[in-house]
Amino acid sequence: MLLIAPSVLAADFSRLAEQVAAAERAGADWIHLDIMDGHFVPNISFGPPVVQSIRKLTKLPLDTHLMIENADRYLESFRDAGSDRITVHVEACTHLHRTVHRIHELGMSAGVCLNPATPVSHLSAIIGDVDLVLIMSVNPGFGGQTFIPSSIDKLRTTADLIATTKRPIFLEVDGGIDAETAGPVIAAGANVLVAGTFIFRSRDIAGSIATLRSSSSPSRTR
Ligand code: DX5
Ligand code: ZN
Repeated sequence: MLLIAPSVLAADFSRLAEQVAAAERAGADWIHLDIMDGHFVPNISFGPPVVQSIRKLTKLPLDTHLMIENADRYLESFRDAGSDRITVHVEACTHLHRTVHRIHELGMSAGVCLNPATPVSHLSAIIGDVDLVLIMSVNPGFGGQTFIPSSIDKLRTTADLIATTKRPIFLEVDGGIDAETAGPVIAAGANVLVAGTFIFRSRDIAGSIATLRSSSSPSRTR
């Protein structure tokens, strides 16, 4: 199973309805929402009011990636705006266990995310509580960056950790995913691909989604 989660960060916001509809028609599984606060990451994107507008555009699950400080303060607002899933950064949450449980209490799926320089070992005490792990394959903050090759090893290590839980935990990868990098990340164990630039900056949203989907490899290689 491979899920494709287009990131609207790279969409043309003046044509958001059209572009989200095109992604949904093309078989996107989730819509990925990149929330940036100008503190945890250097960029600012959008917040709950825009999420609420996107909620009206699609029935697809809204996969909400919080790149913000004080995530706890905003969880309820994102839930009320229509987020189905929330992923928080290990590096940004002092009381990560509490945050993950609060996301569940609010009725959402909970994910945790690692920056490129954060080792997979930081997941060991929380893996039993999460529904998803997100491996950043660029430093978060901007779309259109180059894929960091060491992410492949991190995906393999994370896939092994997930396997030890014997629970179905999504392994998502985010940053620089395109026709070239999709195959290797899937082979390393990723089963949710986030892609912004490759999908929304192409002239053919459906074609790009199909390309990512067809990068799926039948067996995991080392
Ligand atoms: C980066 C974001 C990504 C970004 C991916 O901070 O988390 O979701 O939009 O963009 P591309 O696919 O352009 O690398
Ligand atoms: Zn993201």
